[in-house]
Amino acid sequence: MWRLARVLCAALLVGSMAAPAGALEAGTAVDPGDHDQAGAPEARAAEARHERGRRLYDGLCYFCHGYAGDARTLAATLLNPPPRDFTAPPELDAARVIAALRDGRPGSAMTSFGARLDDEAMAVLADYVVREFVQRRARRSRYHSVENGWPDHDRHAAAYPFADGRIGLDAPVEALDAGQRAGRALFLSACISCHDRSRQDDPGPAWQPRPLSYPRPGFEPGQHAVTASGQPLDAVSTPSIYARHDRAPVIPGLTRREREGEALFQANCAFCHGADATGRNWIGQFMEPPARDLTALSAAAKAPRHLRQVIRDGLVGTSMPAWREVFTRAQVEAVVAYLGRRLNPAR
Ligand code: HEC
Ligand code: HEC
Ligand code: HEC
Repeated sequence: MWRLARVLCAALLVGSMAAPAGALEAGTAVDPGDHDQAGAPEARAAEARHERGRRLYDGLCYFCHGYAGDARTLAATLLNPPPRDFTAPPELDAARVIAALRDGRPGSAMTSFGARLDDEAMAVLADYVVREFVQRRARRSRYHSVENGWPDHDRHAAAYPFADGRIGLDAPVEALDAGQRAGRALFLSACISCHDRSRQDDPGPAWQPRPLSYPRPGFEPGQHAVTASGQPLDAVSTPSIYARHDRAPVIPGLTRREREGEALFQANCAFCHGADATGRNWIGQFMEPPARDLTALSAAAKAPRHLRQVIRDGLVGTSMPAWREVFTRAQVEAVVAYLGRRLNPAR
C-alpha cells in the first residue's frame, strides 16, 4: 500500500515539473527529496540503485529493523539483543553494514546473509541503509507516515505500545491505567487486523488437543444437534449427506464367521471406508487419496484372494494400513468372508 502512495507522490511531483509523460510510464522513481536533480542521468541511476536497495531491505530486513530503520518492531521486543536502531548513534557506515551482512553478529538474531546476497547486492543494500536512515533520516519510510497516506497517525499513539509490543496484549487489564486501556481498546478495534501478531506474555499452549468440528458417526442434525445451552437445533432438519454412510447395512442370514467379520470391519475399517463400505462418509471423502468405495470394486478386486492380500499388506503410499500384525489369520478370513457378502449382495 505504501509503495502505491509513494508512486502517487512521485507522479504529483513529476506532474508539477511538467516532465514528459514518458518519464512516468518508464517507471522512473523520483525521490521527493531529490527532485531538483531528477533530470541528470547519474542522479537517476543513483536513485534506481537506491530503490533496488529499498526493495532488498523491505524484503529481508524490515521485519527486525523496521521500515524506518529505527527498529520499532514487534521483533525488537522479543529479541535479545534487540535489532540495531540505524537512526541512533554511533553512526553506521557502509563498511560496517557490509561486515554485519557478511559475517552476521554472533550471539544475536543477526545472521549472515552471505548465502543470500552477493557482494554487489550487499553494497547496494549497505548504501541504502546509510543514505536512507543515517543521512536522510527519511520519515516517509515509516509505514504510518503522511506520505504513505496516514495523516496524523500519532493521534493513535495510545495504541502504539500494543502495536510495537511494549505492552503485551494479554497484560491484565487491572494493571493498565485509563489511557492504556483506551489504547488497548483502540488497538483491538482498529489495528489488530494488520498487527495480528502483537506480543503476548503467555501465548498459551502451542497446540491443544481440541476435537475437530465435523459430524461424528451417526450424527443427524435435527435429531441430535443441540445448542450450547442444550436446546435441540430444530432449524437444521436435513441430515448430513455423510450421515447415512455411517450406518451399517443390515444383511440377513450372516454366518457366525461373517458376523465376526462384520464386527471387525465396523471397528477397524468403517472409520475410513464408512459403515456401509462406500467410502462416502466424512473422513473417507477427505482423505488423499480418498478411501476406496469397496462396493464399486471390480470383480477381480472383490475376489477373496485379492481382498486377503490387500488387507494383510495394505496399500503402500496410501493410508490403507497393513493388518498383518493386527489381525490373526482367522480374523482376516472373517473380514474377507463378511466383505464377500457385503460386496456381492446377490449371493
Ligand atoms: C531476525 C532479525 C534480523 C534481521 C532479519 C536482520 N537483522 Fe540486522 N540485526 C539484528 C540484531 C538482533 C542486531 C543486533 C546485533 C548485536 O547487537 O550484536 C542486528 C544488527 C545489525 C547491524 C548493526 C551491526 C553493527 O556493527 O552494529 C546492521 C548494520 C544490520 N543489522 C543490518 C541488517 C540488514 C541490512 C538486514 C537485512 C539484510 C538485517 N540486518 C536483517 C537482527 C536482524
Ligand atoms: C492496513 C494495515 C495496518 C493497519 C490497519 C495498522 N497498521 Fe500499523 N503498521 C502496518 C505496517 C505494515 C507497519 C510496518 C511494520 C514494521 O515496520 O514492522 C506498521 C507499523 C506500525 C508502527 C511502527 C512505526 C511505523 O509507522 O512504521 C506503529 C507504532 C503502528 N503501526 C501502529 C498502528 C496503530 C496504533 C494502528 C491502529 C490505530 C495501526 N498501526 C494500524 C500496518 C497497519
Ligand atoms: C486409515 C484409513 C483406512 C482404514 C482404517 C482402512 N482402509 Fe482400506 N483403504 C484406504 C484407502 C485410502 C484406500 C484406497 C487407496 C487408493 O485408492 O489407492 C483403501 C483401499 C482399500 C481396498 C481396495 C484395494 C484395491 O485393490 O483397490 C480394500 C479392499 C480395503 N481398503 C479394505 C479395507 C479393510 C477390510 C479395512 C479394515 C480391516 C480397511 N480397508 C481399513 C484407507 C483405509
